Amino acid sequence: MKRILFVSSEVYPYIKTGGLADVSGSLPAALQGLGHDVHILMPGYKDIVDQIRASARHRSIRIGASVEIVETEYPGTQITVWLVTHGQYFDRHGNPYMNPEGMPWFDNADRFGFFCRIAVELGMNRLGFKWRPDIIHCNDWQTGLVPALLEEEPLRPATVFTVHNLAYQGLFPPEAFQRLNLPARLWSMHALEFHGQLSFIKGGLVYADRITTVSPRYAQEIQGNEHGCGLSGVLTARAGRLNGILNGIDEHDWDPATDSRIPHHYSADDLSGKALNKQILQQRLNLAEEPGRALLALVGRLVLQKGIDVLINALPELMKLPIQLVVLGSGDKSFGMALEGWSRLNPEQIAVQLDYDEDLSHLIEAGADIFLMPSRFEPCGLNQMYSQHYGTPPIVRNVGGLADTVTDTTPETLRTKQATGFIFEEANANDFLRAVKYAIELYAQPELWLSLQKTGMTRDFSWHNNAVAYLNVYDLALQDHASPLNTSPRLAEFS
Ligand code: ADP
Ligand code: GLC
Repeated sequence: MKRILFVSSEVYPYIKTGGLADVSGSLPAALQGLGHDVHILMPGYKDIVDQIRASARHRSIRIGASVEIVETEYPGTQITVWLVTHGQYFDRHGNPYMNPEGMPWFDNADRFGFFCRIAVELGMNRLGFKWRPDIIHCNDWQTGLVPALLEEEPLRPATVFTVHNLAYQGLFPPEAFQRLNLPARLWSMHALEFHGQLSFIKGGLVYADRITTVSPRYAQEIQGNEHGCGLSGVLTARAGRLNGILNGIDEHDWDPATDSRIPHHYSADDLSGKALNKQILQQRLNLAEEPGRALLALVGRLVLQKGIDVLINALPELMKLPIQLVVLGSGDKSFGMALEGWSRLNPEQIAVQLDYDEDLSHLIEAGADIFLMPSRFEPCGLNQMYSQHYGTPPIVRNVGGLADTVTDTTPETLRTKQATGFIFEEANANDFLRAVKYAIELYAQPELWLSLQKTGMTRDFSWHNNAVAYLNVYDLALQDHASPLNTSPRLAEFS
């Protein structure tokens, strides 16, 4: 049995801005299911802490003048969740990373620097919790300083750092390095410095015993220039410590046979409920109630990563096809305005909801016919897995986790019943439209379409195998950490 401290800046169902939260909720549960002792550490954002204090079993442990750790149990498990509150850093409403104007909070370096310090203290069992992890599993830039700070500690736990998205690096002006009182030796291009800035993510990439990312394809891609975001050198130097492990999905939350957020349940054996969900979705979004018209959907952050511009550029042609389109997303205002403009012109054909709405996202997965993910890059992606499980074959780009989790439809994969979706190559409207047209052709052939749906619905996207893969990485991290060969400074690995 391993003791694992899982450190993340967002955890579903407490707070979620994207897939990191889904993974931070479901992977710890899967690890506990395999017999391990997992504790989750996350920031105690005001809204969550207020809710927990009002409704859930909890206790609060004061560890400083303005700092408390609120301890509760993850719903449906025996996982302890520690939420670090701080009067100044986390006691504010809204998005964990951005102010109401959509700009990063001015003190993000201080907020997440503080969070990392607490993770180190907990990891070293210095806060009186009488629990010492064997492994600290850090996720994304917000936790990047943890492996770097632990490097100073001879008796530290082993560290694993997971990259969910290399494009978000936690870059701050050099003054932040001083203000956070970081050890001077970390100010080097072989440590936390990145082109004159402080880089949180480099702390994880350089100092963790093991690095993982969320799909095998993305693990390869980030070692190259196109997807390396300026860090491919560090990653290739540490390639021997880097593994790609696919995300799993929470099969309880995302199962059309039991999903409490959808009105009609269905399964691969009987898909009749799906048609009813489609009707409800069309009604709810004021689309024409046409059961036979292919309903295409996109749910996601409206950012360049997700290829929203590819969709927008394709709209003039898309609108000529016998389809409807639903978009649920929030993010870049210009993408939102462009999509809304199209919807105003074609209200019965296009519905756009610029919002974050967990319930609607489930109804869309259940009611749509075809899911769209034209991402420029996609470390793993969860929606293409959800959509396969919901009998909503996805159209995805040939990148990252999309390529690893969708089987393209060809005459051969259709014949062998392997096909689960449609893969296109380049992030441009032409390639995307070609895939859409092919998908619609198949949609018009109910027998073939049903076979495609059923293959996706019965595919195993559970955490089990991938959680075992993480356990193997934890073993490797423990070995690397214990090995005398590993005591040489990390910078030797990429000097
Ligand atoms: P990323 O983490 O890059 O945003 P993922 O596909 O891994 O992409 O995960 C996104 C998660 O966030 C999914 O669970 C998706 O349903 C959810 N999501 C994204 N945007 C919205 C939205 N506007 N409303 C509801 N859920 C959303
Ligand atoms: C990131 C990635 C997404 C991935 C998610 C969870 O937000 O953009 O592809 O699925 O993290 O790992």
